[in-house]
Amino acid sequence: MRDAQPRTIYLKDYREPDYLIDRTQLRFELAEESTVVDSVLTLRRNPNAEPGPAELTLHGTELELLALEIDGQPVAQERRRISGETLHIEGVPDAFTLSCRTQIRPQENTSLEGLYKSSGMFCTQCEAEGFRKITYYLDRPDVMSEFEVEIVAERSRYPVLLSNGNLTVAEELEDGRHRTVWHDPFPKPAYLFALVAGDLSRVSDCFTTCSGREVDLHIYVEDKDLDKCDHAMTSLKNAMRWDEKVYGREYDLDIFNIVAVDDFNMGAMENKSLNIFNTSCVLAKPETTTDLGFQRVEGVVAHEYFHNWSGNRVTCRDWFQLSLKEGFTVFRDAQFSSDMGSATVKRVEDVSLLRTAQFAEDAGPMAHPIRPDSFIEISNFYTVTIYEKGAEVVRMLHTLLGPEDFRRGSDLYFERHDGQAVTCEDFVKAMEDASGRDLGQFRLWYSQAGTPRLKVAGYYDADSETYTLTVQQQCPPTPGQAEKAPMHIPLAVALLGEAGALRLELDGTPADPETSDNTQMVLDVTESEQRFVFNNIKEEPVPSLLRGFSAPVKLDYDYSRQQLLRLMRSDSDGFCRWDASQVLGVAEIRRAMTADADSYQVSEDLVDAFRALLSDDSLDKAMVALTLQLPSEAYLAEVIEPVDVHGIYRAREAVRYALAESLRDVLMACYRANTSDEVYRPEADQIAQRSLKNTALAYLMLCDDDECQGLAKAQFDSSQNMTDRLSALTALVHNLHPYHTEALWRFYQDWQHEPLVVNQWFQVQATNRQPGTLETVKELMAHPAFDIRNPNKVRALIGAFCAQNTVNFHQSDGAAYQFLADQVKQLDRSNPQIASRLLVPLTKWRKYLPGAQTLMKDALNSIMAVPELSSDVFEVVSKSLQ
Ligand code: PHE
Ligand code: ZN
Repeated sequence: MRDAQPRTIYLKDYREPDYLIDRTQLRFELAEESTVVDSVLTLRRNPNAEPGPAELTLHGTELELLALEIDGQPVAQERRRISGETLHIEGVPDAFTLSCRTQIRPQENTSLEGLYKSSGMFCTQCEAEGFRKITYYLDRPDVMSEFEVEIVAERSRYPVLLSNGNLTVAEELEDGRHRTVWHDPFPKPAYLFALVAGDLSRVSDCFTTCSGREVDLHIYVEDKDLDKCDHAMTSLKNAMRWDEKVYGREYDLDIFNIVAVDDFNMGAMENKSLNIFNTSCVLAKPETTTDLGFQRVEGVVAHEYFHNWSGNRVTCRDWFQLSLKEGFTVFRDAQFSSDMGSATVKRVEDVSLLRTAQFAEDAGPMAHPIRPDSFIEISNFYTVTIYEKGAEVVRMLHTLLGPEDFRRGSDLYFERHDGQAVTCEDFVKAMEDASGRDLGQFRLWYSQAGTPRLKVAGYYDADSETYTLTVQQQCPPTPGQAEKAPMHIPLAVALLGEAGALRLELDGTPADPETSDNTQMVLDVTESEQRFVFNNIKEEPVPSLLRGFSAPVKLDYDYSRQQLLRLMRSDSDGFCRWDASQVLGVAEIRRAMTADADSYQVSEDLVDAFRALLSDDSLDKAMVALTLQLPSEAYLAEVIEPVDVHGIYRAREAVRYALAESLRDVLMACYRANTSDEVYRPEADQIAQRSLKNTALAYLMLCDDDECQGLAKAQFDSSQNMTDRLSALTALVHNLHPYHTEALWRFYQDWQHEPLVVNQWFQVQATNRQPGTLETVKELMAHPAFDIRNPNKVRALIGAFCAQNTVNFHQSDGAAYQFLADQVKQLDRSNPQIASRLLVPLTKWRKYLPGAQTLMKDALNSIMAVPELSSDVFEVVSKSLQ
């Protein structure tokens, strides 16, 4: 076991920093063996700090200290002490300059945090606490400093030298070296610092801001990837324009750079004016990238750009406030994506992620509020809760306040706090002040973990012409929070009559006249039980509830089948139409689970409903595709407990086969009608068409006639874009089509020089539900294209297998649990962040059948027994065993 247990850090212990750093001057001498970092920090005592001794404590990890001076005088050994991750200096003046020289070894840095090398280039990743791996510093977001950065390196290997802000010097030096100096006029915390040095090519463009300033835009990539930058550039310009229009936010420097790197722990990073991206989130072209990939690039480019205001100009006081920037920015990028493409599809995708991954997190051992009270390792808190639930909380504010007051609130927030490091409370306060609404109870969303459950019942009284909705709310206990108070939940509702949605009048007050049709209302659910009475209701309606998924809650309403079919057919809210189909799908799969294999017969009314969808040309094709896909295994595992992984899978397959058989001809017609030879565009109409066609293909491959079986091979051989090619490959491989081995081989031959495509190839094989996949995954780990040091490859092969291929991950002998434990142990030595993320599927052991539970716990215990675990893995394993 480790000698010192990692320490827990608490929000309640927050104190202002004792010192501030007004100016940070850095000089990097990059070389092949090691890098020397010189820093000159202009420090002064923080006037708001609590009185205390004249001592300075700086953060620093794995640094070799070469020199330390205060105001030009060496700091004597006895005045300084290095312990663990800190450097203490005693007897410092109230204002002084600290000069420090450290040596670091980026070449050996496999954690991909701090300064490291990726495919021959130097790059940095400093969020959350990576800067301390570069030099001694006050590495906390409430210390904001003006940075000047000098970079020196060999010209031939590193012709491009970048940092934040504006280029002020570029010159040749002796011995084939050169140097650049960068100055960022905006004070920023160290986590937003970035440096890049490498042999990179670039695509350039420019953007004129609303006030007429010209901004140079550059995307830096390896030369071979120059043809994959157009989509990111277009997305960037769209995002810049959108943020001006929707939030009144203008870009603030004359240059904006994006750099693509192969080895990156996350998607991308919003460093001031020098965003660093995982190649998977910036490169795209039709031949190598799927529609989903194109959409991801658009969303992530926008997300990082939007951080320039929500994150950089206004940043976080401490890491407990992470959702302040992430929740808000995810909300902003979701709004952007819905404006760019299909709003309902975007909403359904976001809700699906929330209801699977986030609800599971909220019900598991790592459950935390969007503003956590404590953590051991902040890297473990870049979670779906902080990001996606955080975005839902901002979205609820938008729903409660309405678009105009929400905009007033965001304007006030940016104006009040520009240049500051603030808290979630400051954000809510700005919304409150700008709108005049009392958000007192709403604040519980920031402090309470867990997913509230709403039980709703409807009662129609024909005599009084009233319809009453009774709403109960209840939130289950989570670790450290046994009791929960009722929350303020916006519940958007409509009442559907025979001829459409009814005009609403609540206790005599008509629906908000500003809503276009008076047929939807947002109910303020604030008590554990509440009644809402609608008057002048002349017929018994079907309630349409939680429209647009107006709050991140679970909803129970005892709908009849007839009502669900009606909602699915005619609700004007796209989300509710889709959700009704999910409820029917869950019911169907439950029934298939209890019926024995031969006696199960698919429900005729479901078949009819699907047939109607497939035959109606007026519908949004992307929504038809989403509706036809049955609830995912991940979602079923959320609603059917304890989770019988194999039972769920078999039942879901039985339903899919039955649907495919009953709908074969309409599916075939749909497949043919949506096959087109138009030139590829990553735009909503075409994406929708491909999505519907490939959904039909997946069903048709379950029919064993020759015509159906021929489709995937023909599509694989003829397709011109990666969306169609990969769908065909998946259909061939996952159904063990006779052509699948050759298809896999050909696919690899064609794309072996495109790492992102090879990752897709790994993933298709890792997610194959057929038996024996664990062995395939192990074999593929020995494939020359696999590299355990590259996070994208780890995620594509090991991550996809463990998190998505549930039947194989949960194979009954527990071999896959042990496999994952072994990978986690190995990865923890090189990259703790990736190790800790990978192990998440094991932490959910409490949900499964008793046999599986024991084996999963065994695997966790075997990790726990490793001496010197990282704090990342230690926190996740120990909390999940508690
Ligand atoms: N701040 C990044 C984002 O969401 C995510 C990130 C976190 C990247 C930590 C790297 C390290 O936009
Ligand atoms: Zn972010």
